Amino acid sequence: MTLLQALASTLTIVCIVSAQQNHVIPISGHLSQSGSSTNGSSDGLTVLTQQGPVVGTSPIVNVRQFLAPFNASSFGDSCPQQFNDGDLEFLRLSWGGLSDEQIFVSESEDCLNVNIWAPSINRAQSTAVLVWIYGGALAFGTSNTPQYNGLNIVRDNDDITLVSFNYRTNIFGLPNAPQLNGTGQAQNFAFLDVDAAIQWVYQNIEYFGGDPERITIFGQSAGAELADAYTLLMSFTGVIEQSGSALGNTEIAAAKLTINDIAWNAVASAVGCGNTTDSVQFSCMQNVSTIDLSAAVSNTSQSFNVVVDGVTTFADTAARATSGRFLKVPVLAGTVANEGDIFIAIAQLLAVGAIIQPGFDILSSIYTMNTSCPTAETTAFRAAAGSTVFRYEYQAIFPNMSPFPQLRAYHTSEIPLVFGTYNVSRESLATTQTGIPVPSTNTEIALSKAMQRAWVAFAQDPQNGLPSIGWPVYNTSASSPTIATLGNYLNATGWSFHRVGGD
Ligand SMILES: *[C@@H]1O[C@H](CO)[C@@H](O)[C@H](O)[C@H]1NC(C)=O
Ligand SMILES: *[C@@H]1O[C@H](CO)[C@@H](O)[C@H](O)[C@H]1NC(C)=O
Ligand SMILES: *[C@@H]1O[C@H](CO)[C@@H](O)[C@H](O)[C@H]1NC(C)=O
Ligand SMILES: *[C@@H]1O[C@H](CO)[C@@H](O)[C@H](O)[C@H]1NC(C)=O
Ligand SMILES: *[C@@H]1O[C@H](CO)[C@@H](O)[C@H](O)[C@H]1NC(C)=O
Ligand SMILES: *[C@@H]1O[C@H](CO)[C@@H](O)[C@H](O)[C@H]1NC(C)=O
Ligand SMILES: *[C@@H]1O[C@H](CO)[C@@H](O)[C@H](O)[C@H]1NC(C)=O
Ligand SMILES: *[C@@H]1O[C@H](CO)[C@@H](O)[C@H](O)[C@H]1NC(C)=O
Ligand SMILES: *[C@@H]1O[C@H](CO)[C@@H](O)[C@H](O)[C@H]1NC(C)=O
Ligand SMILES: *[C@@H]1O[C@H](CO)[C@@H](O)[C@H](O)[C@H]1NC(C)=O
Repeated sequence: MTLLQALASTLTIVCIVSAQQNHVIPISGHLSQSGSSTNGSSDGLTVLTQQGPVVGTSPIVNVRQFLAPFNASSFGDSCPQQFNDGDLEFLRLSWGGLSDEQIFVSESEDCLNVNIWAPSINRAQSTAVLVWIYGGALAFGTSNTPQYNGLNIVRDNDDITLVSFNYRTNIFGLPNAPQLNGTGQAQNFAFLDVDAAIQWVYQNIEYFGGDPERITIFGQSAGAELADAYTLLMSFTGVIEQSGSALGNTEIAAAKLTINDIAWNAVASAVGCGNTTDSVQFSCMQNVSTIDLSAAVSNTSQSFNVVVDGVTTFADTAARATSGRFLKVPVLAGTVANEGDIFIAIAQLLAVGAIIQPGFDILSSIYTMNTSCPTAETTAFRAAAGSTVFRYEYQAIFPNMSPFPQLRAYHTSEIPLVFGTYNVSRESLATTQTGIPVPSTNTEIALSKAMQRAWVAFAQDPQNGLPSIGWPVYNTSASSPTIATLGNYLNATGWSFHRVGGD
């Protein structure tokens, strides 16, 4: 059996084997703008969009049945989230801060939904497609985050459709259930969710005006790791990796060879299912309500690691990388200049209630290397294998992104520039304690436009798009520098090329 077949066959059983109660897979049914399905039948699934209703076929058997019409004007539930104190602090600080209302969104196991922002039917159709994979350390994360809203980038650029989706994390995405151990048995449902969403987009996006032959997946942090790892499995057009790769000191590189039954048993014990790791315990766990399971995951503070299952993750990831056994699609990969700032700030704020300046920069630099080194690795092995690679370092600092002046270009701070959502944070909207709105600067707006232009150019033509707008291929042998610095003082509203670490 080839890898592809193995993955396809595991996909069909993801709803049976995972350790939860209400198993779901993404929206199915083939949608069509003509008001009828591709094979001429119209049997009821109507998706209401801003452009009017879209009608398609009924979902196939075994897939959640939707009541028609299906109102696609708001976000579906997020998957159950696992936050520790540091994660919550992170969300309350990053991008100028999320409110609790934005953090604690409606969640359930019926969470595998897809969001699509497509250009109006009056604009050019058959567009390139960007599919967003959020981060969150494989413990939390949702497409229902204001900074990940696709409206602005699709409105402000031609030839682009943006898709986002949810995938399961923590015990729901990486259950580490000993009972599931078996040869050829996928253990990491988070990965299967990502694959299911991408497959769905491939099969259906043309009915929303997207071009299935021009799909680029892009992600940040754990989302970038998933995108990186996906090239070891599957085929599509291009990849954008923002602050993450499957190598180095990352969740995926740290995948364990064995199932972590400590985490599983701790949660099972907490919900009264015992620690026997037998079929009785497993049935008991399947019977636990989502809310109780989710609460126990948070209460026990366990982390659910990626398991090397030979289906979604491999023991020889590094060897596959160095020997060129991966999909050689073009990659745009980069990091931000001070990834560590927000993590060090959080650690200090939680410990002593303030950011301590002496040592802050050094601690942050060490942390930053843990993200920038894996990105350097993934770009190096890809370039060595003949893949087209583009690389950046984001350096910009804006007042409405940062509740503390110490926070420079920190982990996640580039995301609102890519999405054009730099003005939706608490800092921007005057809902902070001071009540004074901090406006976006002209430089910020211009840099956002430039970055959107670059990301969209890459999605439109991953091979030639960036060179056509003056951004060369990453090449360590070239005489002039090839890492684009975004928001550097030499070109605060775009990119410039000069020596930075690793170039
Ligand atoms: C339409 O196509 C779908 C899948 O392509 C198939 O399952 C269904 O039976 C077809 N319906 C009709 C009426 O031919
Ligand atoms: C769809 O949802 C939107 C926003 O929640 C609402 O305004 C609208 O009335 C809904 N439409 C239907 C037909 O339910
Ligand atoms: C599955 O069980 C076998 C036999 O006990 C063990 O060798 C293997 O490491 C287990 N696999 C995982 C992923 O835990
Ligand atoms: C299993 O649970 C029992 C009873 O709660 C406890 O005494 C024992 O230490 C647990 N064993 C492990 C390995 O956690
Ligand atoms: C599941 O829960 C129901 C009601 O809470 C109970 O009757 C049933 O025995 C449970 N099943 C298992 C396998 O634990
Ligand atoms: C979680 O902990 C709280 C108190 O710390 C307790 O009341 C609650 O029962 C626990 N829930 C679960 C599912 O362990
Ligand atoms: C950085 O990575 C090293 C291993 O590569 C690890 O030991 C260390 O804890 C990491 N530091 C941080 C701050 O993540
Ligand atoms: C945010 O920026 C977008 C354009 O980028 C604009 O349409 C919107 O009105 C702005 N919102 C606020 C609150 O400034
Ligand atoms: C990299 O630069 C070297 C030296 O200029 C050049 O010979 C080579 O063709 C370049 N490689 C790519 C992929 O552009
Ligand atoms: C600044 O960046 C823009 C891209 O937004 C680019 O077109 C321009 O050439 C750059 N200017 C300099 C001086 O590098």
